[in-house]
Amino acid sequence: MDRMHIIAGNASSQLARAVCRGLGNELMPVNVGRFRDGEVRVQLLDNVRGDDVFIINSTNPPFENIAETIFIANAARNSSAKRVTLVIPYLGYNRQDRKAEPRVPVSAKIVIDMLKQSRADRALLIDLHSEATASHFEPTIVDHLYASYGAVEYLKRAMDQPFVVAAPDAGAGNRARKYAQYLGLADIVVFNKQRVQAGEIVEESIKIIGDVEGRDVLLIDDMIDSGGTLIADAQAAKEKGAKRIFAFATHALFSKGTEVFTKELFEEVIVTDTIYHEQKKIQNPGGAKITVRSVAPLLSRAINRVHHDESLSSLILG
Ligand code: R5P
Repeated sequence: MDRMHIIAGNASSQLARAVCRGLGNELMPVNVGRFRDGEVRVQLLDNVRGDDVFIINSTNPPFENIAETIFIANAARNSSAKRVTLVIPYLGYNRQDRKAEPRVPVSAKIVIDMLKQSRADRALLIDLHSEATASHFEPTIVDHLYASYGAVEYLKRAMDQPFVVAAPDAGAGNRARKYAQYLGLADIVVFNKQRVQAGEIVEESIKIIGDVEGRDVLLIDDMIDSGGTLIADAQAAKEKGAKRIFAFATHALFSKGTEVFTKELFEEVIVTDTIYHEQKKIQNPGGAKITVRSVAPLLSRAINRVHHDESLSSLILG
């Protein structure tokens, strides 16, 4: 069997360490630093010739996280690794997946094209905002994983009163429907809304399709950026008589911090660690409970299976 190496970029070093613990492996020593002028500098500090290399790095801002991912993978490829897999727990720029307005780039495709320049063989991704963009990776082979694998058991325990699953907009309906099915519910509620440029919500535009009165609400989204979407939905739900509001989102950018989630609106906000935050940033004293469920067990299992050329289907809830 070829040796397996796990390499971490700076965006995901904590998560990569947890993945290594699950695999009973050590992180491979690398230098991922900067030249004096700030350019990204990468050097692998072990031999990878003929080996199976996994690079774990999310590509949330700063843009250098993308550069690190490409350069590490390219260094492994140029050092004669037998197989190189990009493990990107959160793929940034994926919301910019089409020409939604005049004179804008399709940045999601450009970023994927850049990642392909590394000449990696495979990509292992979690909860893409736009699943359709996975095809831009071709001929790189993509395995798409879902955080629901680890989250659903937790959500089953958390939702201990009658509840509804809600999608924050029509586009999020398929994901919410899957969670409703996993949680034993036949239907979902949809918070239809209008958005303007940069995703902001048009005031008073939220229309709730379905009934939330007297019930707990579990909002399911792929990501939290500023938190504006979930907050607007929670307010609208409360106005319609909803009881407790829970939210689950895979990717937590928390660009306005966690303090925007007040306990007046939210019972609990559950996220994963696809994007790293210091513990003190996650704590929300006096605010809503913030729970982080790690995707490390999912990634350890997936990497182990890829390494042994085994199927990943058992890691995707049916
Ligand atoms: C929108 O399509 C996404 O799925 C999220 O709802 C959105 O990006 C979240 O952003 P924010 O937290 O800033 O409202």
